[in-house]
Amino acid sequence: IEKIGVLTSGGDAPGMNAAIRAVVRACAYYNIECVGVYRGYQGLIEGDFKMLTARNVSNIINRGGTILKSARSKEFRTKEGREKAYKEIKKAEIDALVLIGGDGTFTGGMVFNQEFTLPCIGIPGTIDNDICGTNFTIGYDTALNTVVDVIDKIRDTASSHNRLFFVEVMGRDAGFIALNAGVGAGAEEILIPEEDLGLDRLLESLKRTKRSGKSSSIVVVSEGDKIGKNVFELADYVEEHLPQYEVRVSVLGHMQRGGAPSCFDRVLATRLGVKAVELLLDGKSNLMVGLINNKVETTDLDHAVKGQHEINKELLRVSDIMSI
Ligand code: F6P
Repeated sequence: IEKIGVLTSGGDAPGMNAAIRAVVRACAYYNIECVGVYRGYQGLIEGDFKMLTARNVSNIINRGGTILKSARSKEFRTKEGREKAYKEIKKAEIDALVLIGGDGTFTGGMVFNQEFTLPCIGIPGTIDNDICGTNFTIGYDTALNTVVDVIDKIRDTASSHNRLFFVEVMGRDAGFIALNAGVGAGAEEILIPEEDLGLDRLLESLKRTKRSGKSSSIVVVSEGDKIGKNVFELADYVEEHLPQYEVRVSVLGHMQRGGAPSCFDRVLATRLGVKAVELLLDGKSNLMVGLINNKVETTDLDHAVKGQHEINKELLRVSDIMSI
């Protein structure tokens, strides 16, 4: 292997730049070339490439977003799109790819690999933490800290006005952000897709909360929760059934994907980036690098996407005890 391409695809995540830097510098360290592919798979199709040297990735370890930009390419889902991408790869003499992203990114990589047998290694970069084969994805820790920080602020105003706040957080179909940020921010209730609390139990819990003398409350709602109402409908429903509450909603949205990566995410991204390059140089392919019990380990890309990264439901019990 003499030339490795690196791309970021899907939703961006803080720490992706640290991962790009690690890949580029590991390539420089091992005397091979590194090509940055812009806008994920769309850039692969369009041949949007740029050679990256160790100096090109100076001063990015601390920056949120991705200098390579990201996209969710529809064209890459088609056979024609992937053929175009392969032609561009051949033209640029790229021997292998490092794919930084989430399950969509890895699925694209696997299909591509099956069709054209190009060595690929995945690095998990998504705030959702919904990837199997790693305890933590890059960006998740930063997103948690952002969410906790914002909920702390919401708590101030909730408390001043004696209000109940529903705070919706991201996570797609997974409740990692909601559950961990909810416990970290001291939420009264946490609604996650992995455990449907149900409307009746939510009302009961909120009644108990009021009776216990609390004047304000926070309910963290994961965007993928299964309660059957969106966060605004949920707020209306609660206000209708529990008129003792004055309810407000805050949807945190994309702010959760921005900002400088935490130290944890920078170190994680750096370790995984170096390992990804070393695996390719070792002749490996179709693997994802991840962190398990603080060791860098590998998982088949297929398992990373299809396997179940179990949420720690023990945290729900702990949260229940705390909201006494
Ligand atoms: O996968 C990351 C994520 O931020 C999810 O939490 C969210 O559901 C989705 O991406 C939003 O995607 P987009 O930025 O394309 O609206």
